[in-house]
Amino acid sequence: MPMEILESPAAMRDCCRRLRAQGSLGFVPTMGALHAGHMSLIAASRQRDAASVASIFVNPAQFGPQEDFSRYPRPREADLAQLEQAGIAAVFLPTSAVMYPEGYASYVEVEGLSERLCGRSRPGHFRGVATVVLKLCQIVNPERAYFGQKDAAQVAVLRRMFHDFNCDWEMIVCPIVREPDGLALSSRNQYLSPAQRQSALALSRALRAMAEAHAAGRRSPAQLLACGRKILDAEAGLRLDYLEAVDVQTLLPVADAAAGTLIAVAAWAGSTRLIDNCVLA
Ligand code: PAF
Repeated sequence: MPMEILESPAAMRDCCRRLRAQGSLGFVPTMGALHAGHMSLIAASRQRDAASVASIFVNPAQFGPQEDFSRYPRPREADLAQLEQAGIAAVFLPTSAVMYPEGYASYVEVEGLSERLCGRSRPGHFRGVATVVLKLCQIVNPERAYFGQKDAAQVAVLRRMFHDFNCDWEMIVCPIVREPDGLALSSRNQYLSPAQRQSALALSRALRAMAEAHAAGRRSPAQLLACGRKILDAEAGLRLDYLEAVDVQTLLPVADAAAGTLIAVAAWAGSTRLIDNCVLA
């Protein structure tokens, strides 16, 4: 069956209803500029679900006024070819006018969580993410929705929202996919110059050093963070936004770096903001 490309919520809803009647339906929401990280979410859904659908929508509501909304990469044809090849049954490709028509007034606020980690330097970002994910999932009504662990704060915000709104879409979180040298895959990596890309490797290097220190018995968050900061501060090409050891659900700093603690980092390489994280074993 050729992949369907649908632009209206009503057409996507009908298509998903048909697919769901035939068996379980998995959904992978994306902003496009697909890379191996996105494809791992699709592969996970293809393995588990009878049918898989995706969306490509660069959501203006999750970008701040000074952020990269207008230059965010939009390689539509290449994205659609990858989705078709991966066996996606239907893609939802709405415009901003379809998602946020004249008079649009409803937003989802996940209080507290939305102001932590990335939410601190990106006010309004998680409000935009939560709103669009709720809208997309309402349209698709999947059995399962797939997200990447790379956006660990996004995962915490969406988990809270799914719970608070009694959503019965199961949330599946897939591991971070990395380049062989450790760089976490991101659609924004293509903005990086070779020198900035080299600097960006300090993020995964710092996380690795912290995980190793933890494995060697260090439990004090202050000591672990100092170990990571040393590596990040030594990289002149990076400007640190945050490096934190937090509870994976509340995103609040932990007093003891027990197993399951999330170590999350964000930094700018030039004007490109990069994030990465690891969960302590
Ligand atoms: O993670 C992303 O790509 C986006 O935040 C999402 C979940 C597709 C919402 O726009």
